[in-house]
Amino acid sequence: EEKTDTGGQGGGTEQVSLGFSQVGSESSWRVANTKSVQDSAVSAGIALDFQDGKQQQENQITAIRGFVQKKVDVIAFSPIVESGWDAVLQEAKDAKIPVILTDRAIDTTDTSLYRTLLGSDFVAEGRKAGQWLVDRYRGRQDDIKIVQIEGTTGSAPANHRRVGFTEAIESYPHLKVIDSKDGEFTREGGERVMKTFLAKHKDIDVVYAHNDEEGLGAIDALEAAGKKPGEDVLIITVDASRGGLEALAAGKLNFVVECNPLLGPQLMDLVKKAAAGETLPTRVVTDETVFDQAKAKEVLPTRQY
Ligand code: AHR
Repeated sequence: EEKTDTGGQGGGTEQVSLGFSQVGSESSWRVANTKSVQDSAVSAGIALDFQDGKQQQENQITAIRGFVQKKVDVIAFSPIVESGWDAVLQEAKDAKIPVILTDRAIDTTDTSLYRTLLGSDFVAEGRKAGQWLVDRYRGRQDDIKIVQIEGTTGSAPANHRRVGFTEAIESYPHLKVIDSKDGEFTREGGERVMKTFLAKHKDIDVVYAHNDEEGLGAIDALEAAGKKPGEDVLIITVDASRGGLEALAAGKLNFVVECNPLLGPQLMDLVKKAAAGETLPTRVVTDETVFDQAKAKEVLPTRQY
């Protein structure tokens, strides 16, 4: 494959090439993340080979193998699940191609298989969700029944958001998680899981959904069951995408923890540094905030995604 001479990218004379394997397009977060990566590659003058993993780890492994064969300068990917990457990442390492984890972490004992992880602190996000609940029910003695709609089983955001949330509420025994189920980070998944919860449990007080889409699905299920989301049942979500903030401003969600999808500019900086042989920080955490209903109304007019 021919490389274009753009004069000085990445410390050499050739254009830096980046192979990027994305999870899929399960949520508006993901769509915004993809756009950010694609737009930033164009602005940074980086030749991007973008591959959609379509929610399958095998597709991502095939894409990474393809990047190794094409001898791209840098590989970045957002791993759908945490485990099972060692073999393919060893192939990239043997080919001396630096790997940057974007958005999601992997579970490995060999940290030399990747150069850095750029993305959110999902445990911190879970803690923020749990802390809001602790404050909301401070002083109450009666049991508060919580159901959790989890993200994709085995994914870093699902694992870490559960851990952070559990940690924040565990010393308050009246805050009880009575059920937990995978909603696959999609609206349909959230609706399906919420329907199951409603059929199984009486008097659910709170829904903790691992992303906005699942929370919006829960709203659909609650409304179909004649309940008022945000009043009869409180809902907490993570992401703060436009759809989530609109539902929050409308009073159908109660609290939204931000997860920033706009990782493209920082990723391209890291890619250039990696291609130039520079040392990267081992972890780059994105700055994030939280939203209540008033703050959602404030930021909505300028929200990009
Ligand atoms: O990995 C980030 C998560 O993946 C987002 O919270 C979710 O919306 C997306 O699908």
